[in-house]
Amino acid sequence: MRYLWVSALTPLAVSPAADRLATARSTGTIDRVHLEVVAHRGASAHRAEHTLAAYELAIADGADGLECDVRLTKDGHLVCVHDRLLDRTSDGTGPVSARTLDELAELDFASWSGAEPEIGVLSLDALLALLADHDRPVRLFVETKHPIRYGGQVERELVRLLGRYGKASPLSLDTAGVVVMSFSSAAMRRVKRLAPAVPTVLLTAGPPRKLPPWADILGPGIRKLRADPGFVARAAARGRPTYCWTVNEPEDVRLCAELGVRYLATDSPSTTRSLLAGPGSTTVAKPK
Ligand code: G3P
Ligand code: CA
Repeated sequence: MRYLWVSALTPLAVSPAADRLATARSTGTIDRVHLEVVAHRGASAHRAEHTLAAYELAIADGADGLECDVRLTKDGHLVCVHDRLLDRTSDGTGPVSARTLDELAELDFASWSGAEPEIGVLSLDALLALLADHDRPVRLFVETKHPIRYGGQVERELVRLLGRYGKASPLSLDTAGVVVMSFSSAAMRRVKRLAPAVPTVLLTAGPPRKLPPWADILGPGIRKLRADPGFVARAAARGRPTYCWTVNEPEDVRLCAELGVRYLATDSPSTTRSLLAGPGSTTVAKPK
């Protein structure tokens, strides 16, 4: 197996990307690409995360994509919950993985945030059904969490469910209705083995040391991009678009647009949309 290396040591002041951007700006030669606004856990700045209300608002606010985290229940269903434990985002306690879907259907997943109660966990099945019913194409970015007690079962169940919705064998990255993400490289390798055409994002909080062939898109956090803005251009030079999370500050939205980030995960798609509005609207510089 051959690995491609992504150097993480290029500081802002000497970033080739910044240099190229400055030159391209002055000569007017910047290519533009579409930037997709992805609602992180739904419009989670305005509604309880991972609830139907949060996703419906994100769609109404014009999000191009939705992000969700998935975990397996005790009886093998995929549900949209970020934490291993139920305690923070519901009136239940203990691990998600120790409860059945029916048990999770009894819990309130919204009151914790000060919102009206929303009873019942959001299943991935229900979220896919919401998107299937919608008249505008909205891409879903599904993050599998690891390590977990069920190991690779989460990716196997995910690919099976995507197959049921006709999302397991898209013709291209641009037409893919679902993208799968994880901080676990092994998990992304599994997805590529099970469903080679489904695009993958390898998430990374720090400098990614290896670029494995099963990572179609690279997913640095915004702190990483602030410290190393040349990352986007280097990833592009390796044929990898960038997905950046979680981008809420106006100057970070502008930085991502300038660098040519392709997918931007934000808690407030409405605010991000308005920050990006104007000439060129949702297009950003294409990294060279
Ligand atoms: O979109 C990726 C991002 O969600 C990863 O961090 O903790 O919010 O799942 P986290
Ligand atoms: Ca996530």
